[in-house]
Amino acid sequence: MGTLQKIDEARVEVDRLDAESHTADQLMEGITLVLNQHMLKYNWVGFYMLEAGANPPVLVLGHYQGAMTPHTRISLHQGICGAAASSGKTVVVDDVKKDPRYLACSLETQSEIVVPIFVHGKVAGELDIDSHFLAAFAHEDRDLIEYCAQLVGKRLEGS
Ligand code: SME
Repeated sequence: MGTLQKIDEARVEVDRLDAESHTADQLMEGITLVLNQHMLKYNWVGFYMLEAGANPPVLVLGHYQGAMTPHTRISLHQGICGAAASSGKTVVVDDVKKDPRYLACSLETQSEIVVPIFVHGKVAGELDIDSHFLAAFAHEDRDLIEYCAQLVGKRLEGS
């Protein structure tokens, strides 16, 4: 099966999850499972959410699939994660070895994407995906991952 078909399949699964989940937390857990299981290059999939009331702000690891990471709390001036949350923009890194911002999670990681999650127009967290392959995130992947982040943002707005 080609990557585009896999992406379509993952989108159908994510829509099903969105319809069936009762809470944002369930939706986030389900998204980590669907993306990690359906998309073979998505080797680590996890959410980091801004801690409520923290000053200075800090991203805290939530649901994830993949190897344990030492980075359970990340400040906004650290890592690709901090860059995405502080800029409010998706960050795609095709080769993590060439990006000085990169905080190593696993020695096998070669590329990474981090997509912010907005709640009422403000960054509330992000969806972070690492791959063991170089340049694993094409624009179709980015569309899928941004779609997942939007579903979570909408769900959090309603809760
Ligand atoms: N690589 C991230 C840190 C989180 S781990 O990938 C799970 C970063 O550079 O912010």
